Amino acid sequence: MNKDRVYIFDTTLRDGEQVPGCKLNVDEKVRLAKVIDSLGVDVIEAGFPISSPGDFDAIKRISKEVRSTTICGLTRSIQKDIDVAAEALKYANFPRIHTGIGVSESHIKYKFKTTKDKIIERAVAATKYAKKYVEDVEFYAEDAGRADNAFLAKVIEEVIKAGATVVNIPDTTGYCMPSEYQEKINYLINNVKHIDRAIISAHCHNDLGMATANSIAAIKAGARQIECTLNGMGERAGNTALEEVVMIIKKRMKNQYFTNVDSTRLKAASEAVSEAMAMPIQANKAIVGGNAFGHSSGIHQDGVIKHRETYEIIDPKEVGVSESRIILTARSGRAAVAYRARAIGYELTKDNLDLAYSSFIKVADELKEVKDEDLVKILERQNIFQTV
Ligand code: KIV
Ligand code: ZN
Repeated sequence: MNKDRVYIFDTTLRDGEQVPGCKLNVDEKVRLAKVIDSLGVDVIEAGFPISSPGDFDAIKRISKEVRSTTICGLTRSIQKDIDVAAEALKYANFPRIHTGIGVSESHIKYKFKTTKDKIIERAVAATKYAKKYVEDVEFYAEDAGRADNAFLAKVIEEVIKAGATVVNIPDTTGYCMPSEYQEKINYLINNVKHIDRAIISAHCHNDLGMATANSIAAIKAGARQIECTLNGMGERAGNTALEEVVMIIKKRMKNQYFTNVDSTRLKAASEAVSEAMAMPIQANKAIVGGNAFGHSSGIHQDGVIKHRETYEIIDPKEVGVSESRIILTARSGRAAVAYRARAIGYELTKDNLDLAYSSFIKVADELKEVKDEDLVKILERQNIFQTV
């Protein structure tokens, strides 16, 4: 069976960088672009060129230094934005201009104070204008998640006619339910003339914690590009997490779909973003969190020690984590104490383990976690010494 490729559009450096306090300087952006490129993503949205001279310079340098990936710059449906984006992208091997406009009632009425016809006019004009500079033009229909499907279809049909190569259907406010978003993409596939001339892109926000679920629903409906960020960075509750989409496709959809991302680089890339943006990763973050492969309860630890797959659906090495962690806490059992003791050079007999465990559990009740150095003290207090 032929598998479909799902293109990964990384917007860590644009939508991800919009997080308050996470702004990157030019050198940091260029360095992260190289890390993101090494993952094997298909598109790097490097920034919003007209927003600041720093962003302009970063996009220009990334265009010169990252040669094998499409480099994309965001614009509004404004000629000046598009002129500046084209200038910033002029050295890119594969430049893409990402232009668009709001299409929901709320955006049309309150943000643009205009009419639906005028929105279509501006969308078409911006697409045609961007086409003068580059072949690859992506159009975003901002707040598509809350937009009327019939109007959205009309906009999308017109921008495809104007030359858009990719049509982005953002759930800008993270409002959609997965079934609703899937139906929206289905609706476009069934109601937009020449929809097959463009790639449908899903761009989901996480306000209700459904960004990843919505992106996966979009793939099922026919979207073939997912816009996402490492660690799910992004304004408010963030964007679809790149690492989640990549691993869902790899673990649960691999008979039908694939991405070009090298999953073994995910952990390192996630750490590079976290460090550069000074934004710690929550410990229970799927795939890349510090506890994603950590086990602390006795029942789970016993299972994992006997056979890793009893409590893990991903081999940590697949995402660049060296091994699962057995973390000693007051919920740990004997198997875990013996396992950690062995790992630091203490092979325990049954009697020794009984002795060590009764002392361990008292200490564990006082501590959040019993570290290796605490375990050494517990063992040596019982006259148990290293054997290897
Ligand atoms: O969320 C959104 O709608 C966006 C667009 C600018 C693509 O980020
Ligand atoms: Zn967004």
